[in-house]
Amino acid sequence: MRIDIISAVPDLLESPLNHSIIKRAREKGLVEINVINLHDYGKGNYKQIDDYGFGGDAGMVIKCEPLYNAITDLTSMRNYDYVIYTSPDGDILDQPMANTLSTAENIIILCGHYKGIDHRIREHLITKEISIGNYVLSGGELAAAVITDAVVRLIPGALTDETSALSDSFQDGLLAPPIYTRPADFNGWKVPEVLLSGNPKLIKEWQEQQALERTKALRPELL
Ligand code: ADE
Repeated sequence: MRIDIISAVPDLLESPLNHSIIKRAREKGLVEINVINLHDYGKGNYKQIDDYGFGGDAGMVIKCEPLYNAITDLTSMRNYDYVIYTSPDGDILDQPMANTLSTAENIIILCGHYKGIDHRIREHLITKEISIGNYVLSGGELAAAVITDAVVRLIPGALTDETSALSDSFQDGLLAPPIYTRPADFNGWKVPEVLLSGNPKLIKEWQEQQALERTKALRPELL
């Protein structure tokens, strides 16, 4: 898989894309992630990419030209399954969406910034808008990092058996059961007896029942 992220503040993406599971997936060659600095497509000494919005609203808007050039530079080189724009207007990211995106070969993620981007780019070049929740972020970079993380960990080989995505919350539509590690007794707080029983069948039954009970109690709308 290849993910090209277009951003006006590429430094914001530096850390999340260079640690832990994403870092390992990149090193293993499972995913190639490129961050494109939108300012490279800006005009003049200041590499300007934004301008005042028509209509008198306060706030700067990212101009068509740098966005058009950045996106078409990429789309002229290969086919993209999705040209994503991160926006609170978009479909809310959930596990089924992450699963679908993880089967793509090439993805562009355009990060919004300032007031947003010129709407004509959304109409003509963007094929999918994704929100990571019903709140407004200062820019799309954190959303792009969240989407990338949710997708990359699902690429076969990105996770080891230990961290298998199959036991994640939401993967079977349920929250994950509680987990524990040693010691079995910490200041009198005890690990559930069944987990110490060594009986895989009983343990699995307990985990399934806990997953169901926790989902009913905490996130009933998932059922
Ligand atoms: N940009 C600003 N807010 C956002 C959100 N909630 N999701 C995705 N991108 C955003």
